[in-house]
Amino acid sequence: MSPKRILIDTDPGIDDALAFLLALASPEVSLEGITTVHGNVSAPQTTRNALSVLELARASQIPVYQGCDLPLVKESLLSPETHGDSGLGYANLPEPTTKAQAQHASDFLIETILSNPNEMTLLCIGPLTNVALALRKEPRIAQNVKEVFVMGGALFHPGNTTAQAEYNTYVDPHAAHIIYHSGMPITLTPLDVTYQCIFTPDDLKRLQKIDSPITKFIADSTRFYMEFHDEYQRIEGCVINDPLTLALTFMPEICDYQNLVADVDVSSGVGLGNTFADVYNYDKKTPNLRVALGVRPRQFMELFLERMESLAQKIS
Ligand code: BDR
Ligand code: CA
Repeated sequence: MSPKRILIDTDPGIDDALAFLLALASPEVSLEGITTVHGNVSAPQTTRNALSVLELARASQIPVYQGCDLPLVKESLLSPETHGDSGLGYANLPEPTTKAQAQHASDFLIETILSNPNEMTLLCIGPLTNVALALRKEPRIAQNVKEVFVMGGALFHPGNTTAQAEYNTYVDPHAAHIIYHSGMPITLTPLDVTYQCIFTPDDLKRLQKIDSPITKFIADSTRFYMEFHDEYQRIEGCVINDPLTLALTFMPEICDYQNLVADVDVSSGVGLGNTFADVYNYDKKTPNLRVALGVRPRQFMELFLERMESLAQKIS
């Protein structure tokens, strides 16, 4: 079977960077472009981080397109406490030697999806601003994209940004609202499953047996991320939301899913950015999201660790 052709819309971000590495280490997918968005850090910084991580993994041939630096309606909300001021924790990657493409991220998404009908898998692991803008500019992408995987939301799990809201959804809830109601075939990976997938200090030790710039980057970036999880959530290790979402594109059996009528709260108040589902479907609507609600964490972690080991062995 030929590899799945994927585009990643992202705000790197420590776990975003790990998702790139997992994509590059996985023959089941072919990463054809990265679009960057504001989120964990500003859009210029997420762009720089994407280029640096690609260079680290010797994958600078993959084009990067910068997108929106502000949410559609709200003010922006960066997350230096979670990902550090640079967005990559304690990692200190050199200034990239390559540059982003001139085209805006949303236009690249539109052009690529429309010129490859039913071919492109879109993975969204940051706030959804670029994708919402693309949908408003060219609604036909909804019928032409093959499938969309979104890391976002917290249905029955507490939020990680407010009591109810997950970060990517809270940062641009209006964009999430547009995507959820777009009619695109969406699989959602909420905190309900990602918070069961913890990259532990022992997992890191296993990777560090291989001396490589890849394992050094993973150690330097996740040390910061682990300190955040310890200080804010009393979790030993760190939650790698974005790589789990990437893994589902080619290994869907890691999770169990429910087709649900789901929505995001865009009213002002304590629920802003909350993703919720009408589980009993009181309104008798057609489900709009396939939501991952069960997960086999060790199956995912083994996949992640094995792929990181093989990438690290190639890049020394
Ligand atoms: C999401 O928010 C970001 O901080 C992570 O990169 C992930 O995409 C988790 O809520
Ligand atoms: Ca992210």
